[in-house]
Amino acid sequence: MKLVMIGTGYVGLVSGVCFSEFGFHVTCVDKDANKVNQLQSGQATIYEPSLNRLMQQNMQAGRLIFTQDTSSAVRDADAVFLAVGTPPNPQTGEADLQYIFAAAREVAESLKGYTVIVTKSTVPIGTGKQIQEIIQRINPDADFDIASNPEFLREGSAVEDFMKPDRIVIGTTSERAEQTLQKLYRPLTLEKVPIVSTDIETAEMSKYAANSFLATKVAFINEIADLCEKTGANVSTVAKAMGLDPRIGDKFLNPGPGIGGSCFPKDTKALASIARSHSVDFRIVESVIEANDERKHAMAKRIISNLGGEEAAKNKTAAVLGITFKQNTDDIRESPALAIIDDLLRAGIEIRIYDPQGMSAGRSRYQHHSINWCKDSYDCANGADALVVITEWNEFRHLDFDRIKKSLKKPLIIDLRNIYDPREMAKLGFEYSSVGR
Ligand code: UGA
Repeated sequence: MKLVMIGTGYVGLVSGVCFSEFGFHVTCVDKDANKVNQLQSGQATIYEPSLNRLMQQNMQAGRLIFTQDTSSAVRDADAVFLAVGTPPNPQTGEADLQYIFAAAREVAESLKGYTVIVTKSTVPIGTGKQIQEIIQRINPDADFDIASNPEFLREGSAVEDFMKPDRIVIGTTSERAEQTLQKLYRPLTLEKVPIVSTDIETAEMSKYAANSFLATKVAFINEIADLCEKTGANVSTVAKAMGLDPRIGDKFLNPGPGIGGSCFPKDTKALASIARSHSVDFRIVESVIEANDERKHAMAKRIISNLGGEEAAKNKTAAVLGITFKQNTDDIRESPALAIIDDLLRAGIEIRIYDPQGMSAGRSRYQHHSINWCKDSYDCANGADALVVITEWNEFRHLDFDRIKKSLKKPLIIDLRNIYDPREMAKLGFEYSSVGR
């Protein structure tokens, strides 16, 4: 079977590479010439564990190619996946569908023989139907079916998540399209990965509902953490006690500086906007969005207060460990670190930053600010009034704290990810502040 992946962002690139690893012939298409050149040279455009290796192996095996040419790729394809971006409208949060509709138009012009057009991007409910209408209008003779196959992979463990998913969701009303997709996922169903077969609208909704629920879970534990701080309870133990109930589950109960990344903030806003457009009262997700926006500012306030309050904090230096929205990624999109750093800069605080993978994106985001970009955690701590952990990178978990203490002006650690043990920190002589403990 021959597949085409339109769009080589996170979802498109990882899915394309993994489908080629299943043994299918995959052509990944992108409009961006620089991206395609880099991919053709065997270098992934994102940092993602084991992606480069799989990509190179499958390119060498002749199963994976990269091109800018949609039309020749689509002509031979059995299935075309649309995996282009659906960025949010900055005012309304509504998903911008211009790229997905443009891709659908281009695909429509090149279809030859039966093809399944599959939406992998996260799209508002009803988009599949609109894509079908576009293709029919542009190419009335085209022999095709539409399906929705949302992707649930996480950045930082994307390959692993694609290869070992909890479930596969296939939305289509066509028996033939369903069979094609079942064939593509056969290596996973052989491993007993469950398939949820449904209609397009339900599949589209499943993705938004899953992401919004997970975002709610994190926002919920963040509020519990705030209350733990006021009442003397320990949020880590509360989360453990809650998580042992299988109806709740122990995942996504780590409090922190707020949710970030290219998905949760965007998808919660898009779902809330869909609800508004249908006049459905959507208080839970609306509150999650608001709580998450406020959380980042609350974290900045916490740092300022630890530095002695607004007046005292002016001209002090914060050593920031971690700028990516979570560990194992170079992605800083919607990272809570950005909103926090912006607030600290506004408060007149000097900033030093170190991140294992986010330095390049960080430098370009802050190109007009004077920030000290550091070569490692120790360099970052050098001369600072506080060490602030914003991202939970593993390498921050095992620092030489004697060295850190000597480098800091004052032994103060503000840990927004709870990666250290409060008792150990006290023993080491640090003033230590964490979240909800
Ligand atoms: C998320 C979903 O987890 C994936 O299933 C989904 O496919 C993806 O969005 C998408 O729609 O493409 P991702 O954005 O990569 O994946 O990141 P997550 O690991 O889910 O984390 C999201 C945010 O929540 C991060 O800022 C993370 O630090 C935060 N988080 C997560 C917490 O603060 N606490 C937790 O316990 C878990």
